[in-house]
Formats: sequence, C-alpha cells, structure tokens
Amino acid sequence: MKNSSIKEVRLIHLPKLEDARGNLSFIEQEQHIPFKIKRVYWIYDVPGGQVRGGHAFKKQQELIVALSGSFDILVDDGTSKEFYSLNRSYFGLFLPAGLWRSMENFSTNSLALVLSSTQYQEGDYIRDYNDFLNYSIENEKQ
Ligand code: TYD
Repeated sequence: MKNSSIKEVRLIHLPKLEDARGNLSFIEQEQHIPFKIKRVYWIYDVPGGQVRGGHAFKKQQELIVALSGSFDILVDDGTSKEFYSLNRSYFGLFLPAGLWRSMENFSTNSLALVLSSTQYQEGDYIRDYNDFLNYSIENEKQ
C-alpha cells in the first residue's frame, strides 16, 4: 500500500446548526468522513504540558475533533510536517493511515474526540519514530 502523504490530511467543516438554545453539530460515517466508524475514544483530563499520541497507524484512519477547549496536532509523513490547531467543535481533522502524529498544548478541560476506522489493535501502531521512517520508505517503494 502506498504511503499516505500529508496532503491527504484535511480539516473537515462539520455541520453546525446554530440555535438560540445552543448549537448542534453531527457526523455521519461515509457522509462527512470517508470511512466507517469502528471505534470512538476520547482524551481528557490531560495535565498541562503532556503530549499524547506520538505514533503512527498502519491501517487506522481517524477524525479528531476538539469537542471542548483546544490542542495542537503535529502531523508528519516522513518528509513534511504540519501543525493544526483545533479549537472549534465543528471542525474535524481527517488523518489517513500511515502518518506520524502527536497531540500537545492541551488547554485546561479540553476534550479530544477520536473517531477511528478500526478497532483497537496494538499491532497497528508504529511507536518508534525510526521504525516509522523505515516503514514510510518501504511503502514509498511499492
Ligand atoms: P495510546 O493510543 O498509546 O495513547 P496516546 O496515543 O493517546 O498517547 O493508548 C494508551 C493506552 O490505552 C495503550 O495501553 C492502549 C490503550 N488503548 C486501548 O486499550 N483502547 C483504545 O481504543 C486506545 C485508543 C488505547
């Protein structure tokens, strides 16, 4: 499988129904995001200065939403790096498989929602950056 490029990462503007009673947003699989949702998890109560992620997935595609507060996501395809700041609950960052990503600068009470295309499988993780670079180079050749 060809390695993913950072160019495939994109911010998706989710529906936002503005209402005097409060706003409402939603996500439908294969409608607003290009995959079927197999798993949902969320990251919260992150102490100041902590970094989450710091790995790549071989198969998992994901959409990350800052449901509350803000945080930054560093994405790296082995050649280029990009930073995204998420701070609105109606934007989701779509990440294809095969990219290194880490999450940092979590604000107090931030809540990161992750929609995943796969169930949890430790074997899908690449946790060592040099292994990721080798994996990227190998996939680039194919
Ligand atoms: P991990 O994905 O490494 O966290 P992060 O990338 O945010 O730093 O997951 C931390 C631990 O939680 C790890 O032992 C695996 C476990 N875990 C599950 O059991 N199920 C899940 O859906 C996720 C995301 C993690």
